[in-house]
Amino acid sequence: MQYLTPGTAILVTGATGGIGFEVARHAAADGAIVGVHGSRQESVDAAIARISELVPDAKLIGAPANFQEDGTTGPMVDRFAERAGKLDALVHCAITGAAGTQGLFRKTQPEAYARNAELVLGVFQQLSFAAYHHLAKQENGGTIVAYISDAGRFPAAHQTMLGSVFGGIISFVRNLGFEGAREKVRAHVISPSYVKDTPVFERFGVGGRGETAEKRAGLGLPSPSDLAPLTLFLCGPDATKMTGQVLSVNGGLNT
Ligand SMILES: NC(=O)c1ccc[n+]([C@@H]2O[C@H](COP(=O)([O-])OP(=O)(O)OC[C@H]3O[C@@H](n4cnc5c(N)ncnc54)[C@H](OP(=O)(O)O)[C@@H]3O)[C@@H](O)[C@H]2O)c1
Repeated sequence: MQYLTPGTAILVTGATGGIGFEVARHAAADGAIVGVHGSRQESVDAAIARISELVPDAKLIGAPANFQEDGTTGPMVDRFAERAGKLDALVHCAITGAAGTQGLFRKTQPEAYARNAELVLGVFQQLSFAAYHHLAKQENGGTIVAYISDAGRFPAAHQTMLGSVFGGIISFVRNLGFEGAREKVRAHVISPSYVKDTPVFERFGVGGRGETAEKRAGLGLPSPSDLAPLTLFLCGPDATKMTGQVLSVNGGLNT
């Protein structure tokens, strides 16, 4: 199924990772001009080579940027928009965060909280700020989609710090969706819980939390290929009258 108009300029952060790669691949198959972001030139080159193999006529623009380094986010968005001639959509799949903020709250390191908020919420806000100016220029506006996790919506063990910054992204997106509507700038959040066939899921290990979740999810856990169509639908011409939505895709783990 085709979700994007051919020629749509879509920038996917984290396109070298599990979910972002699949979003970028589907977008390329729809005939979009796809910005392939990763933290390093080598990972971006490798993702471009893989997508080109799967989608021979793919229009891909490499967009490396390490978000741990100050001043990298906005210029990366501007460079892509300049090379593509415009920006119609930004999909944020990259994972950033500071060490010392994972696990049980009482074992976290308070001195890392500010940096974590800067890397997760701040990076997304900076990307959105840069994208907004390009999206608002388009006759039909444009769309921002942020990936978070269900820790931002539902309480879960060991997720106090992660949940709080993802909760911040939800609030930011809902407000931005409301405010941006007059300029046709739309914003949404997609919130998975566990996603199979990703490096993150593999880290949970055989017999670990992922396997338990798989047993609990009545619909079965999603894979990146279950998430890409929804993502592109939100960025496409059939979703121009909706904004500010938070959509969990979690196989029925939480409702
Ligand atoms: N997979 C899951 O089970 C799961 C569950 C719930 C929510 N999610 C959410 O879904 C989104 C995508 O997750 P994923 O599983 O696709 O992640 P992933 O496979 O681990 O990919 C992470 C991506 O982030 C990029 N990245 C890492 N450090 C970076 C940095 N310092 N600067 C810029 N980019 C950086 C990586 O680029 P390089 O490879 O170039 O370093 C890679 O493209 C995330 O928001 C995640 O929280 C995932």
